[in-house]
Amino acid sequence: MELRKHIIAGNWKMYKTTTEVVAWAEKFNLGSFRRDDIEMVVFAPFTVLHVLNGFSRTGRFGVGAQDLYPGTFGAFTGEVSGPMLRDAGVQWVLVGHSERRSLFGEDHRFLAAKLRSALEFGLRPVYCVGETLQQRENQTHLDTVATQVKEVLAGLDEEQAASVVVAYEPVWAIGTGRTATVAQAEEMHAFIRETLTLLFGSVSQAIPILYGGSVKASNARELFQSPNIDGALVGGASLDPQEFQAIAASC
Ligand code: PGA
Repeated sequence: MELRKHIIAGNWKMYKTTTEVVAWAEKFNLGSFRRDDIEMVVFAPFTVLHVLNGFSRTGRFGVGAQDLYPGTFGAFTGEVSGPMLRDAGVQWVLVGHSERRSLFGEDHRFLAAKLRSALEFGLRPVYCVGETLQQRENQTHLDTVATQVKEVLAGLDEEQAASVVVAYEPVWAIGTGRTATVAQAEEMHAFIRETLTLLFGSVSQAIPILYGGSVKASNARELFQSPNIDGALVGGASLDPQEFQAIAASC
């Protein structure tokens, strides 16, 4: 039995207006790509979640937000909570993307609170981890990622752990056109799986681990052949619906 479904997720970051989303979704839904063994998800800006949701049933893709604030409601100007996302039809949320860590100073405590809040309100979190180039060059990449995994995920119960998706995105590969080699990615994915097994025992086998960082249709197939790479988190290339489907078709 296949324990983990492959997941191909697009992270649109701060791109796309309503008109652009409609054009993207119309093209996506016209595409011939259909595979029941793959889940597709799009992480879109808050302002277009509703629009995207309207297309998600026919397109058979899930809708995700790129961030959430822990809790239900309150005096937190500019923030959006899990229940508000659910109300907008959202099922997924990103937590710990490297841009949130580095540009917005989000630390492990805050990320742990966000992740727990996502689970509490029935959103499936994709928790992102990954080392900087300097950490890889100093040979501290494994320790860095182990700490990111443990500090945020430790303490989840089995049911919660089984709902989490992990995305390994080396910071030096994000938006740079430089992808990790298959050997580098597979080494890290196997290591993340070991770390998850230390935390959650056999439940770790149910946790998909996605690769992210300059994934395109031209390099996806090679990556997906690795046993511990369960799909991809795709930034730039997901902005084009045909390229995004071509990546999924490489699974
Ligand atoms: P990229 O971004 O595919 O454009 O490198 C990946 C990400 O940041 O999730």
